[in-house]
Amino acid sequence: MEKTQANIRAKELRDILNEANRRYYVENDPVMSDYDFDMLLKELEAIEAQYPELITEDSPTQKVGSDISPKVFMAAGKTKSKEFEQHPHKYPMLSLGNTYDISEVEAFAERAAKGIGNAFTYSCELKFDGTAICLTYKGGKLFRALTRGDGTIGDDVTENVRHISNIPQKLTTPAGFIPTKDNPQPWPEEFEIRGEIYMPWAAFDRLNEEREKDEEQPFANPRNAASGSLKLIDSSQVANRGLECTLYHMLGEDLPFTTHEEALDNASKWGLPVSDKRRICKSIEEIEEFITYWDTERKTLPFATDGIVIKVNELPYQEELGYTAKFPRWAVAYKFKAEQALTRLVSIDYQVGRTGAVTPVANLEPVQLSGTIVKRASLHNADQMQLLDIHVGDYVYVEKGGEIIPKITGVELSMRPSDAVLPHFPETCPDCGTHLIKDEEEAKAFCPNQTGCPTQIKGKLVHFLSRKAMNVIAGDATVDQLYNKGYVWSVADFYDLEKEHLLTLEGWKERSAERFLKSLKDSLKTPFEKVLYALGIRHVGETTAKTLAAHFKTLDAIMKASREELLQADDIGEVIADSIIEYFADDANRDTIDRLKAAGLKFESEAAAEKESEILKGMTIVISGNFSISRDEMKALITANGGKNSGSVSGKTTYLLAGEKAGPEKLKKAESLGVRVISEKEFMEEILRFAQNDSGEAQNDKVKVQNDESTSLQGGEATGETDEFTGTLF
Ligand code: IVH
Repeated sequence: MEKTQANIRAKELRDILNEANRRYYVENDPVMSDYDFDMLLKELEAIEAQYPELITEDSPTQKVGSDISPKVFMAAGKTKSKEFEQHPHKYPMLSLGNTYDISEVEAFAERAAKGIGNAFTYSCELKFDGTAICLTYKGGKLFRALTRGDGTIGDDVTENVRHISNIPQKLTTPAGFIPTKDNPQPWPEEFEIRGEIYMPWAAFDRLNEEREKDEEQPFANPRNAASGSLKLIDSSQVANRGLECTLYHMLGEDLPFTTHEEALDNASKWGLPVSDKRRICKSIEEIEEFITYWDTERKTLPFATDGIVIKVNELPYQEELGYTAKFPRWAVAYKFKAEQALTRLVSIDYQVGRTGAVTPVANLEPVQLSGTIVKRASLHNADQMQLLDIHVGDYVYVEKGGEIIPKITGVELSMRPSDAVLPHFPETCPDCGTHLIKDEEEAKAFCPNQTGCPTQIKGKLVHFLSRKAMNVIAGDATVDQLYNKGYVWSVADFYDLEKEHLLTLEGWKERSAERFLKSLKDSLKTPFEKVLYALGIRHVGETTAKTLAAHFKTLDAIMKASREELLQADDIGEVIADSIIEYFADDANRDTIDRLKAAGLKFESEAAAEKESEILKGMTIVISGNFSISRDEMKALITANGGKNSGSVSGKTTYLLAGEKAGPEKLKKAESLGVRVISEKEFMEEILRFAQNDSGEAQNDKVKVQNDESTSLQGGEATGETDEFTGTLF
C-alpha cells in the first residue's frame, strides 16, 4: 500500500478499533464480533509494520483496551456507572497476543525455543471468556481486587468481589503444613493472583431471561454480563448474579516456585479457585492435541471459553523472554471461531411484548447448533433486518452468542433463491391493529395501545402474578380464562375476584378456586419493592425496583419525585426516569394504584414503615471501620432514625462515624474538611442519646436496629478487614 493511502486507512482503523474497544470494555455492549475486531487489528498491525512512522500513541496496537469507568457514563441499559476508586497496578496488567491460526502457535513455539535455548515445557490452559481481575492477598486475607483498567491503573472492585462466592476472603492452610520461624504461613506474606471473573451459562441464561421479560436489553454474551455485574453499584446485588472466578497467574516478589504449574497447584491448595483443565505439554504436537480436544469438548463446559492459552511453564524462562508493551512473549492465545450454522429462513413472526414492543422473530428450518436444535432466532428490530438485507427464503447464518434465542448474524447472498421475498415490518400492531410508533433511541417499534391491546394487557397481568412479582399461583392459562370472561382487565381486578367468579371458569372446582384466592390474599404481604416491580412500569426491572424502593421508601415519594430527583437515585438514568414519570402521569395507572392500595398491597418499604425517630434528620453520616453491630445494622440504625448514609466524606458530611480500624483516608479527609469524627460510643450516647452496655450493645429499644439480610455485606466484620465501605445501600 502506498503511504498516503496507508495513513488514511490507519487513521480509520484506529478510530474504528478504539470505539469498538470502548463499547466492549466500558459499555459492555460490543459493536462487532471478536473475530472481526481481531482481523481489523491485524490489518492495522500490518500497516504499522510497513510504515512504523505511522504508529501513534493512541493506536490500539500499542495499548490494552481500557475498562476504567469514566466518572459518569450512560451504559447499555442507560444506567449511570458507579465511580470506583482507582489504584495503580503493582505490575502492569497486560493482554495476550492472539491468533486463530495454528501455524502462528507453531511460530510462537519456535520463537520461545530460540529465545530460551534449553529444554522447557508449556502450560496449556483454557482461555476463560470473562473479565480480568487482579486479587492481592496480604497475610492470607483478600486485601484488594482491581480490574485491568488501562493496564496501569484499575478500578477498585474489592467490595463487589467479596460477594463472589468462590473467591476466598481468607486462605486455608493445607493439611500437614507445619509453621516454622522462617516459614510461619504456607503462602507469601503478600502476593497477587490474576484471573478471570466469568458468568456460567446457566446464570447468564437466567439473567437474560429476566432482562428480556422486563424488556431490558439482554447482555450480548456472558463476558459482557460478567463485566457489567462486576461493576454494579450495589455490592450486595453482585451475589445474585452467579459470578465465578478462576485464577491463572500468580505474581509477587521472590515467589518460592520455579514453575507456573507449581504456583497454581499451591494456590489451589490454599483454597483459591484454579482450573484443573490444564496440561503440561512438551511439544507442539501435544499442544495441538490439547487444542483439538478442547475445540469439541468446550461445548460441554458450563461456562464460555473462547480459546486456549499456551504459556512457557518455567518462571525463569518467562522472565528471560519478557514482555512487549502489550503482551508477554512467553504466552499466546489460540482463539476458537464462534460456532455458526447455515439454515433457511422460513417466515418471520412479529411478537408483541407486555410493554408493547414489537420484536421480529425468525422461523428457521431446524438446524443443529452447539448441541441443540435451533428453530427460531431473534432479528431484534427493523434496522437490524434492513442492515442484514434479509429476505424470507434466504439462507442465513445463526450464532448462539449465548442468548436464550440465537441470533442471525448474516445472510449467504450467493444462495438467495429467485423467489426470496423482502419482508415488510408491519405498520400496525399484529394483535390490535393500532398504528405502531417507533422509539428512535431503541430502534424498536411499539404498539401505543397500552390499555386496549389484548396481548399487552394479558402480558401485564401475567407479569403481575409472576413468581418474582406478586408470586400468585397462576399461569398464562388462568389469566387467559379470566381475561376472556371479562373478569380481569386491570391488575387491581384480581383483588375483586370472588369464588363465584372462579367457579364459572372451565375446569375450576371449589378447591382450585380457594387455593387461588388464598394465594392472592397471601400476596398482600409482598414487600414494596416487588409490588413496584409487579406494576410493570417500562424499564423498571427487578433491580431498578429495588433501587427505587430503597431510595424513595414509599410509592408516594416516587410519584411526587421530579425528573431531577429520580435521576439522583443510583442507577436511574434519563430513560428510566422518563418512563416512571410517564407511567404515573396516566390516570388509568393512578386509578389502578388507588385500588391496589385499598386492597391492602404494600406501598412502603419496611425501612420507612419502621422508622423510629427523626433524631438524625438532615444529617449525612459516613461510616468507616468495624462496630459492635454489623455495618448494615449501623446503616439501618441511621436511616431508621431519619439520617442519611453516604459512602464518602465531603463538605456535606455531618459526622464521620469511625469504628475500629476506620479507613485512614477517610479520617484524613474528614480532618482536612473539618468534619467531626465521632466514635460509636459518642454516637450512641451523645447523638442518639441512649446508653450502651459493656459489650457495646444498644440498650434503648426506642431506637430500632434493623437487620436487613438482603443488604448484608460479607466484608469487614466477617474478616476483620479495615476496608472502607463505599457502597450505597439506602
Ligand atoms: S494469562 C500477561 N491465562 O484473556 C497475561 N489469560 O485475551 C497473562 N484469559 O488478558 C494472562 N483465560 O484476561 C491467561 N488461562 C488464561 C486466561 C487468560 C483468559 C484472558 C486474560 C487476558 C485475555 C487475553
